[in-house]
Amino acid sequence: MARKFFVGGNFKCNGSLASIKTIVDGLNQADLPSDVDVVIAPPAPYLHWAKEHITGNVAIAAQNIYDKESGAYTGEISVSQIKDVGATWVILGHSERRTLLSESDEFVASKTKFALDNGVSVILCIGESKEEREAGKTLEVCNRELDAVVAVVKDWSNIVIAYEPIWAIGTGLASTPEDAQETHKGIREHLAKVLSPEQSEAIRILYGGSVNGKNATSFKDCPDIDGFLVGGASLKPEFVDIIKSRS
Ligand code: G3P
Repeated sequence: MARKFFVGGNFKCNGSLASIKTIVDGLNQADLPSDVDVVIAPPAPYLHWAKEHITGNVAIAAQNIYDKESGAYTGEISVSQIKDVGATWVILGHSERRTLLSESDEFVASKTKFALDNGVSVILCIGESKEEREAGKTLEVCNRELDAVVAVVKDWSNIVIAYEPIWAIGTGLASTPEDAQETHKGIREHLAKVLSPEQSEAIRILYGGSVNGKNATSFKDCPDIDGFLVGGASLKPEFVDIIKSRS
């Protein structure tokens, strides 16, 4: 079964209303291919503006939600609030939140379940550190992170996985297509065991970590790489080149 190519842009904690307007204008003026799912994730203060001004089939994602509907959770963002302003996706489990904010596998799983139960699709980030990779633990780590979600979510039809080796994020040193493909294949094989072969075959697995307009095409022939989750390059005009890299 052909999986639809998917490109996400994670703006992280970057941008201003002016800079995000420039990005949105650039995407609105680009002739984006219709056979690619494109999602952009501006910082929370700009979600509504982005939704109001983006045209075409570009969807909006939040970069986080809390796993409760509302209440005394100062600073948190609820799933109903991101839906209220038009977001239909949320990025969860990003390594920066797992490390900097100590988000556990179980907390990421709880947020994932809460988002899905409330009709928001999830870009679920997983990935190993440099030390874990050097110790040969890449799939052990990824599978552990996946299993925490499998424990509470059985229908993965609204989850897209983003494999983001931590050592490639923001470094300019992307994984080689061969290494990334090997890990993606291993992830898909694991999901076939813990979920089902059918779900595993259908799930899109994105690569993230220093993807740019120059290297995106090098992943073209990797059968288990279904797209990208892009950080720094999503803030630049080359994001359009990445979206078009399979065309
Ligand atoms: O979520 C995507 C991000 O972690 C990748 O960052 O800047 O290496 O593309 P970057």
